[in-house]
Amino acid sequence: MNVRTSVDFSRADPAPRIADNMLDLVGQTPLVRLQGYLDEAAVNLLAKVEAMNPGGSAKDRPARHMIERALADGRLKSGDTVVESSSGNMGIGLAQTCAVHGLRFICVVDPNAQAQNVAIIRALGGQIELVETPLDGDFLAARLERVAELLNGAPDRFWPNQYANTDNPASHETGTIAEIDTALHGDIDYLFVACSSTGTARGCRDYLRAHGRKTKVIAVDAEGSTLFDGTAGPRKISGMGAGRLPDLARGQRFDDVIRVSDLACVAGCRRAVAREGFLVGGSGGGVLEAVRGMQDRLRGKTVVAIIHDSGARYLGTVFDGDWVARELGASESDVLAMAGLMPSA
Ligand SMILES: Cc1ncc(COP(=O)(O)O)c(C=O)c1O
Repeated sequence: MNVRTSVDFSRADPAPRIADNMLDLVGQTPLVRLQGYLDEAAVNLLAKVEAMNPGGSAKDRPARHMIERALADGRLKSGDTVVESSSGNMGIGLAQTCAVHGLRFICVVDPNAQAQNVAIIRALGGQIELVETPLDGDFLAARLERVAELLNGAPDRFWPNQYANTDNPASHETGTIAEIDTALHGDIDYLFVACSSTGTARGCRDYLRAHGRKTKVIAVDAEGSTLFDGTAGPRKISGMGAGRLPDLARGQRFDDVIRVSDLACVAGCRRAVAREGFLVGGSGGGVLEAVRGMQDRLRGKTVVAIIHDSGARYLGTVFDGDWVARELGASESDVLAMAGLMPSA
């Protein structure tokens, strides 16, 4: 393999800045050039590494913004309790934010929540409220009912409601995309973004349109997701897609929508590791595979892929061959073939 860069050991790095608290470390995540992921070398592909946020994902941004806006306008005050239904990155981001601001946090989860995420939320001081029985066969409905019960008649409790709260996309408009745009001096031909609440994609698109950029924003969604007129179906990769259309997503239009299968997400994760030494999470693998699927049309273009989190959150799923075989019915060689990583005979 080619040596891609050389290090000049004689040059001292500038001293890192000293942050005021953990939330002050949210944002300013790096971009990295992916020089080996695609077969088409003429695409200038960069990834925005959101796992470098202190809570480990892009969700640190909306978590912080939703809570700090509510604190600023008096909907929340120190000592109050935040209640949210999430077993993933948002739960972790909120637990972190609440710890810094002296707020209590109750996180409503169901038995499908990944044990590792629940453990992180607990470790960050969150209280876990487990809903054990679905409502009319639906765990999401049961979780939302429990949130409503917990809020009922308790004025010192606040529900950020990430799926309807416009402070969610606003955090990406003022943060994620503003950072990308500044780093690339506005020269971005394509932006690929995984969607669930659509907060990230909406915020990025709104900034780009407000600044007169011609960037094409490509929404990446899961097969089996109801976003963008999709039909609900089984989905196994957490983070991307929605089983029920979120308020934030209603009527949202992007330049294109690409749907990726669970298996494509797994293949993308394996390829990112093999080609780049980049341990990306499931949605990141899907986003990179969406770019790879379009690479012939991207020659000569600058393309940015937002990678929402790290593969370290998926060791028991995407990166576990037994899980992939059991849940997705694919063998290791199926995955490697899909990832274009089979050694040639
Ligand atoms: C890993 C991962 N990827 C993508 C997304 C989608 O982001 P958004 O909710 O802003 O659409 C999420 C959101 O939870 C996520 O956790």
